[in-house]
Amino acid sequence: MTAQELREKYLKFFESKGHTIIPSASLVPRETDASVLFTTAGMHPLVPYLLGEEHPGGKRVANVQKCVRTGDIDDVGDNRHLTFFEMMGNWSFGDYFKKEAIEWSFEFLTDPKWLGLDKNRLYVTVFKGEGNIPRDETAIEIWKEVFTKSGMDVAVAGEDEIIKDNVRIIPLGTDDNFWIAGATGPCGGDTEMFYDTRPEEGVVEGKFSDLVDSFRLIEIWNDVFMEFEKKADGSVEKLSQQNVDTGMGVERTLAVLNGKENVFETELFQPIFVKIEELSGKKYDDYKKEFRIIADHIKAATFMIADGVTPLNVGRGYVLRRLIRRAIRYAYSIDLKEGGFSWGLSRVVIEMYGNFYTGLKEKENDIRAVLFEEEEKFRQTLENGLRELDKAIEEYRIRWEDSEVFGGFKVMPGNIVFKLFSTYGFPIELIKEIADEKKIFIDEEGFKGEFKKHQDLSRTASAGAFKGGLQGTGEMETKYHTATHLLLAALREILGPETYQKGSNITAERMRFDFNYPAKLTPEQLKQIEDLVNQKIQENIPVEMREMPKDEALKSVKVSFDPSRYPDVVKVYSIGDFSVEVCGGPHIQNTGELGSFRITKEEASSAGVRRIKAILE
Ligand code: SER
Repeated sequence: MTAQELREKYLKFFESKGHTIIPSASLVPRETDASVLFTTAGMHPLVPYLLGEEHPGGKRVANVQKCVRTGDIDDVGDNRHLTFFEMMGNWSFGDYFKKEAIEWSFEFLTDPKWLGLDKNRLYVTVFKGEGNIPRDETAIEIWKEVFTKSGMDVAVAGEDEIIKDNVRIIPLGTDDNFWIAGATGPCGGDTEMFYDTRPEEGVVEGKFSDLVDSFRLIEIWNDVFMEFEKKADGSVEKLSQQNVDTGMGVERTLAVLNGKENVFETELFQPIFVKIEELSGKKYDDYKKEFRIIADHIKAATFMIADGVTPLNVGRGYVLRRLIRRAIRYAYSIDLKEGGFSWGLSRVVIEMYGNFYTGLKEKENDIRAVLFEEEEKFRQTLENGLRELDKAIEEYRIRWEDSEVFGGFKVMPGNIVFKLFSTYGFPIELIKEIADEKKIFIDEEGFKGEFKKHQDLSRTASAGAFKGGLQGTGEMETKYHTATHLLLAALREILGPETYQKGSNITAERMRFDFNYPAKLTPEQLKQIEDLVNQKIQENIPVEMREMPKDEALKSVKVSFDPSRYPDVVKVYSIGDFSVEVCGGPHIQNTGELGSFRITKEEASSAGVRRIKAILE
């Protein structure tokens, strides 16, 4: 099945169920919505109608919405993360509810007239109830009926979440089956549909989360029953109407339908890869990560520009600039240095998507102009900048002994980071990323100091830009940095003192933290960890820094590096007696500034290493 066939089938199906088909909204949210930089889900442009406003298309609408999510931008390159994706969705604004939503989902997925997927490979999760919201017995009953009617005998998993025998319905908690677009807004329990992608491995058996972790079960559709609204003060109130918001990813569904291992093997990427192969002389199979990043980023950039975004040093324009520059840098790394290559790829994107998203063709001139200009600008300095970066790495490194736990790392001084940023136009995240690959830490505090100095000297527009964009970014990152100290201390308390940091990565949107632990964390452990961090936040503990001779510091602080490799004077950051770390900083002054800490994901990073993603709200 082609992507276009899939979109058409979806829309036709819901049209036949009385839905008005509406076009995709812009990637740029409406002006009154300051909660996101880009449209991140199909529901986003529809929030007012979920809250009760009347939609011109009536109470039932369906569409295919272009979306951009940049929270996981540095994960793009693996086998599943994307910044740009399309989401098919059907909505009820106070009209039908659970019964119709679930029945139609099942019909569309399994009826040979529609997708014709094998119902025996389908598994569903439902909200098991948490807080004041009870277990979704209604959804469970409806699923049972739907399966029974199709001749299947199904059972519901217990608290152990184990799939065996005829278990197909798995109740899960808030983290998995309660949906909200951000910190506040319409929300509700959901039911998610998963498909067995490897039936050749025999009967599906085992703990649900393990089957998902190994990608045997892949989520293809999410029906959210939006009947609540979360307010800024954290309270959850019932909405005046019961809504349905469903989301089905085009890329993933297409991969499943065509038996492809991942989204990159589908026709939504292959033509771009062919073009990259042609331009670079390299093979996708040898450079998967680079190809995926370049293709995803140029695709996202193409759509953003068509929706009126231009490269800037702040906000949305900064994200666009970052995507284009990151794509160029990866292109360089596979010797794709031909001028205008980004437009070359973008043309393929327009070709692939232009019939459905007609705005792309209309904006072709803008897209070409922006890509050419941005590429030209960055290209001039990229090579010099990369050379400068290599030099900096050689010249200024402080070499830390490789240790079993941490691996070696080095620090790059702030003035060098600033030079790369100001003279060579490297987005700060890009510098960090390149540094990260070489196990280098950048001195962010030093960088900020340099920036302020520069700002005082030249009251230029870019100084103002920094204030509006990057400074905010820096502040958020500083908060996340402090949060990693709280998290590590909490992990040590809950999982044991032998827990160490194996890596960490911070963006303005979230933190990612890797640590050694032999097993998947249980929901109880995650809750304890989260609660403990939040407790420390609420205690408003000052974060204190003392500079002291290394020898003195090492008497009282447990460190993980080879002591002989520390500088003679080190900074020790302590948060009460909860956390004491030797660290370069920067940190915020008081834990109370962090707001509220929420773990959004726990997964395997590599053997014996777990990864937690968390956000501050
Ligand atoms: N809002 C839900 C999601 O994005 C369903 O559309 O998954």
